Amino acid sequence: MQKFRVGIIGCGRISVVYLKAFQYCSDLVEVCFALDKEIGRAQAFAAHFEGCRFSDRLEDLLAAHPDAVHICTPHFLHKEQAVACLRAGCHVLTEKPIALSVQDAQEMIRTARDCSRQLGVIFQNRYIEGVQEAKRLIEAGAFGPIRGAWSSLAWHRPPSYYECDWKGSWEKEGGGVVIDQAIHSIDLVRYLMGCEAVSVQGHIARRILTNIEVEDEADAAITFENGAVYAFYACNYYIKNSPIRVEISGEKGRCLLKETEMEIELDGQAPYKILPQVQDNAGEGYWGSYHDVQVREFYRRLAAGKPVCVDPQDATKTLELVLGLYTSAKENRTVRL
Ligand SMILES: NC(=O)c1ccc[n+]([C@@H]2O[C@H](COP(=O)([O-])OP(=O)(O)OC[C@H]3O[C@@H](n4cnc5c(N)ncnc54)[C@H](O)[C@@H]3O)[C@@H](O)[C@H]2O)c1
Repeated sequence: MQKFRVGIIGCGRISVVYLKAFQYCSDLVEVCFALDKEIGRAQAFAAHFEGCRFSDRLEDLLAAHPDAVHICTPHFLHKEQAVACLRAGCHVLTEKPIALSVQDAQEMIRTARDCSRQLGVIFQNRYIEGVQEAKRLIEAGAFGPIRGAWSSLAWHRPPSYYECDWKGSWEKEGGGVVIDQAIHSIDLVRYLMGCEAVSVQGHIARRILTNIEVEDEADAAITFENGAVYAFYACNYYIKNSPIRVEISGEKGRCLLKETEMEIELDGQAPYKILPQVQDNAGEGYWGSYHDVQVREFYRRLAAGKPVCVDPQDATKTLELVLGLYTSAKENRTVRL
């Protein structure tokens, strides 16, 4: 099979994860172009792959005609870069969040459709083995009707994390701990719940990381179409990255994800755990190391002519919930979704 020629835009913090993912998928991809506005970063990334070119200009990447482009840039750039790549005939896999507004996300989706190209969004934690197993059980009805969900994230982001030209800004990051870190918990709850949120009452605060304009803490009560209530909490001023937790409770069963380890309890059966098979090979402590799995799946699906994951409409629903939480908090009202 001919390999996909791929490019990457943004060779910052997350790009180390992509180095590993591309190496893991080397039977499927040939990395042909690295782009960063800091050319030294693009050069350093390109040096890992034979024949890989680099630049600080998008036109150069597009002129190299990659089959697919990975977008790993600040949130406010996802839309314009995805649209440019799609129009130039490339498939796109963008980092989360898909965009900063639902309108922008819809424009990306329309462009992909009009250009007959595929657009996917990274939510790598859906690929955790225990999450996949819980999804199978919930879909098979093993949990009975789902009554509730709970997620908690207490992470450490030092003030230095925000010393760059986009993080900590409403305009460029689009928010703080909710849109950047806890979007993963929100996405997992939506994914496992299997239906959409209908209302959100959110609260955000800036309590410890007072050098930023966005929130460093948030909580919310979210209700779903099936009547379940989701209790959400997140902060990124804790002293360390405590294991993230996501729980889903049904009338006959429940599951609790702690970082990447899933505990499952079904009525009448002994509880059991599903341990991760994927090692944290990036060494960066990102929640899960499942980029390898998602990137591989992206190319397998492209090769088979199947729709890629995560579907951009689906990723837009997660964004809608995040934005609803912000609106609710800022306007001090319940937002209907
Ligand atoms: N899925 C995950 O778990 C996860 C984890 C971390 C980051 N991310 C996502 O990855 C993306 C990047 O985050 P990061 O932490 O690596 O940020 P970063 O600031 O470390 O890196 C962004 C890079 O983009 C480059 N850049 C900025 N503007 C550019 C432009 N116009 N053209 C080309 N390059 C440009 C910057 O120079 C920088 O190297 C964000 O969407 C973030 O949410 C995802």
